[in-house]
Amino acid sequence: MCGIIAYTGKRQAKELLLDGLRALEYRGYDSAGLYIPESGMVKAVGPVASLVAAVPHEFLGTSGIAHTRWATHGAPKEANAHPHTDDLKKVVIVHNGIIENYKELKEMLAHKGHTFVSETDSEIVANLIAEKRKTAKSLVDAVTESLKELRGTYGLAIMAADEPGTIIAARMGSPLVLGIGESENFIASDPTPIMRHTKNVIYLNDGEIAIVTGTSYDIFTLAGASVARVPEAIDWTVEAAEKGGYEHYMEKEMMEIPEVIENTMLGRVILEEGRAKLGGLIDVAEKLKSAKRIIIVGCGTAYYAGLVGEYLIESLARVPVEVELASEFRYRNPVIEEGTIVLAVSQSGETIDTLEAMREGKRRGALTLGIVNVVGSTIARESDAGVYNHAGPEIGVASTKAFVSQLVVLALFALHLGREREMSEEDGHAFVKALTELPNHVRTIQSTRGLIEKIAPTYATTRDFLYIGRKQNYPTALEGALKLKEISYVHAEGYSAGEMKHGPLAMIDKDFPTVAIAPQDSVYEKMVSNIEEIKARSGRVFAILTEGDVYGAERADDAFFIPKTHEYLSPILAVIPLQFFAYYISLAKGLPIDKPRNLAKSVTVE
Ligand code: G6P
Repeated sequence: MCGIIAYTGKRQAKELLLDGLRALEYRGYDSAGLYIPESGMVKAVGPVASLVAAVPHEFLGTSGIAHTRWATHGAPKEANAHPHTDDLKKVVIVHNGIIENYKELKEMLAHKGHTFVSETDSEIVANLIAEKRKTAKSLVDAVTESLKELRGTYGLAIMAADEPGTIIAARMGSPLVLGIGESENFIASDPTPIMRHTKNVIYLNDGEIAIVTGTSYDIFTLAGASVARVPEAIDWTVEAAEKGGYEHYMEKEMMEIPEVIENTMLGRVILEEGRAKLGGLIDVAEKLKSAKRIIIVGCGTAYYAGLVGEYLIESLARVPVEVELASEFRYRNPVIEEGTIVLAVSQSGETIDTLEAMREGKRRGALTLGIVNVVGSTIARESDAGVYNHAGPEIGVASTKAFVSQLVVLALFALHLGREREMSEEDGHAFVKALTELPNHVRTIQSTRGLIEKIAPTYATTRDFLYIGRKQNYPTALEGALKLKEISYVHAEGYSAGEMKHGPLAMIDKDFPTVAIAPQDSVYEKMVSNIEEIKARSGRVFAILTEGDVYGAERADDAFFIPKTHEYLSPILAVIPLQFFAYYISLAKGLPIDKPRNLAKSVTVE
């Protein structure tokens, strides 16, 4: 995710800001930039090293703001990199987060004569502040008035060209921390870039604004009330800070899931109407309405997300869906008729098989859509339209938060298609309600993960595993097995529970355990029967059950409970314990969790 570092004090800001950007590199980014009022602005695409090379030797000034960008609106290119300024170059900002109503604001500002050079939502904020500053008493008043008009999330550091030394910070949804030093102060998106200078920090809360100079900081709320805050001391090491205090990126990324779900849904649900609003699909709205068939293509985890998507779309929107491994689809001579959509699901947007499958669909006349996490990636650029995940960079090779985010996008997509067709408003409301409850349900699961941490080591020497599920949780079983294979090198097979009697049951004995995904849904009783069949053959069962399911728990050897949700959303919750299970087994085996042998995060060769 994007990173912010800002400095004001007595020292030269250039090196401090560049050092800060290097410290933020771990968050993932595609471009970087910095601004020092007395010297100007420099931006560069690519690593911080490219920015360092671009900044003139003499770039003087004792205050400034800097940013690493991870694209969410507009491709990674210099014009889209931060800092952003208004058209008269008076107000300069760096921004993390997403401004939902930026299109309306852009229109309003364009009417007032503002011009824009980037495709970002952030540039609008600089212009809005500049506009307000024409009549406001002070910069901070202009900022406060502007913030009241923003919808969405922001962590902002703001400077005015004619007020060097003063930085305004504001937070809503995107973290910001002040670092309080001796005659110098810092602002950053996390403590990593400031902790080498000071350990005294103040975390801003949502709705708070801070005016920071080298010798002072004043914090107040959007409503203008002053906030008294004493700095607290942090005791993180730099290494721990980069992983947010977690031992591995995978753990950090799993723990980010509630926030990822919120970000993926941000501005995309209309609560009152029980509908989804997907801005990236507006241009193809008519074609979507008349779609006759959807073919979802993807690889690995993204393919499994597609399988869940099939259940979601067919059940909510009644549009026939096929899901195909991208590597198979591209060589299959597929039948594409009028009204066929090829939907590519890819975290990186660069997986060669998925890209080629999508291109194949395009060549044959299909409308192509992408569900992609990395903005500006090839699939995002080449698809006719699409939806970004907004899951933030995923560094662990085994996909966790991106998978969940793919499921959320597919759920929104299914809801959107459904409500445009036969899905009733009442059903739409129920589905939206269930979606909005998901982040807290995941938090509940995370709070009981200690149970998995305890049981996982008891399975650490097991050589083979079976994962079973039915209906929408059949793909969850496949994904759970894949997670285990990827990071703990243990043989694991995902199976539809209904297929047990057609083969796998023969393998069951006391040394061949089964992970059974059996929430209380329309196939619960069938799943319980499958569990009984395994137990009758001395198989050990670890069951994922709905909260309070004593009956199911009595039939399993180990059980983990997940909150009840809409049946078709249950994979989003059921996969979380499976991700933790794989994580803790890998941990017990002492394996390199974030970088498993032989695997790559982005597979750009066949
Ligand atoms: C690789 C990664 C997986 C990922 C798959 C598809 O195998 O290790 O985690 O699911 O590629 O990647 P994509 O970027 O297209 O989602």
